[in-house]
Amino acid sequence: MHRHGLKIRHADDPSVEPERDDPMRRILVTGGCGFIGSVFVRRHLNQHPTDEVWNLDALTYAGNLSSLADVADNPRYSFIHGSICDGPLVEELISSAPVDAVVNFAAESHVDRSIEAPDLFLQTNVLGTQTLLEAARRNGVRRFLQVSTDEVYGSLGAEGKFSETTALAPRSPYSASKASADLLCSAYHHTFGMDVVITRCCNNYGPYQFPEKLIPLMILNAMGDRPLPVYGDGLQVREWLHVEDHCAGIEAVLERGKAGEVYNLGSGEEMTNLSLVQRLLKLTGKDESLISHVTDRLGHDRRYAIDSSRAQNQLGWSAQVSFENGLAATVQWYRDNTDWWQPILSGEYRNYYRKMYDGR
Ligand code: NAD
Ligand code: DAU
Repeated sequence: MHRHGLKIRHADDPSVEPERDDPMRRILVTGGCGFIGSVFVRRHLNQHPTDEVWNLDALTYAGNLSSLADVADNPRYSFIHGSICDGPLVEELISSAPVDAVVNFAAESHVDRSIEAPDLFLQTNVLGTQTLLEAARRNGVRRFLQVSTDEVYGSLGAEGKFSETTALAPRSPYSASKASADLLCSAYHHTFGMDVVITRCCNNYGPYQFPEKLIPLMILNAMGDRPLPVYGDGLQVREWLHVEDHCAGIEAVLERGKAGEVYNLGSGEEMTNLSLVQRLLKLTGKDESLISHVTDRLGHDRRYAIDSSRAQNQLGWSAQVSFENGLAATVQWYRDNTDWWQPILSGEYRNYYRKMYDGR
């Protein structure tokens, strides 16, 4: 790795001697400094004691090296600072040593930001994914896993759930960019016979989530006695899955998923935003008078709900963390980890918050 001056540790270096009861695999994770990617990286290193994990992350506002501070010195872990849109870098990385699988988390992930500035979403989520697919194809990567979202299916009325055969009908620039990436992944499977698998998950929650998203934003506002900005009537419905369960589902698909297949990952834990915010107020010991109904999100999807029976029946995966326990543990995590979120709240986030919420 010379052009970019990258120093990648390979597990076949003499300095790295894993126990070889499993064949060593090298997994390229992208976006591993984000919320879900960081949990996946830690989990994978723990559960696969001979695997090597490379983490390619551009460190956008959402990427945080401190989320993986505990694995930074692990000899089987390497961080590469760079973008999935940088074709020469991605090619150099994937061709530098055999890569068994790519797990693509890297994305612009926030719907509200996609309404403000869609172009970055197309660059990262669409062109970045295609850049990775192309390098993976050229270099014979065994499996490509695309981390996608239930939002590609659009919005539901009061009844029904999204299944893997539901037609794609994205309605925000974010979900349109994710749907486009999914279609490119399918195209690489059908056209080139690449082993591609796609996961589509409902809303995640848990530690290390950037406080632009509903749950951490509301926890931190409640803890600071600031208003809780509920969009519109707050009766939009979301389904919530703990991030550890999501990562377990991704592992199951990586290990046992069928090439070319899509797997929905959900929990069945559906609720309105308003009832969720009320639960958070109880958990933080704050009063409901903090709730403030603000102008709704443009094009706000009313309800998501996901049928994950394929992953349950074919892969034996199901959610293990109850929402009640997971939410209480998440509130406790934010209470205990001010060192993680305080620098975020006192940085660029202040401008973001003002722009998005002042006068709303
Ligand atoms: P996040 O915003 O917390 O993290 C995204 C990460 O990607 C950050 O570390 C960022 O630095 C990195 N990144 C952004 N652009 C990059 C680029 N060009 N090159 C390399 N790295 C780049 O996102 P998240 O919530 O952890 O979501 C991860 C993935 O899971 C996304 O693909 C998202 O669409 C999908 N997903 C998220 C949820 C959810 O509820 N958060 C649910 C379903 C699917
Ligand atoms: O469904 C999976 C998707 O879940 C992922 O693909 C996205 O990456 C992730 O951001 C999430 O999208 P949502 O738009 O559902 O998540 P968000 O946390 O932004 O909002 C959840 C709900 O809460 C949504 O109905 C909007 C509402 N909301 C959000 C914020 C930030 C509010 O009412 N007030 C707020 O301040």
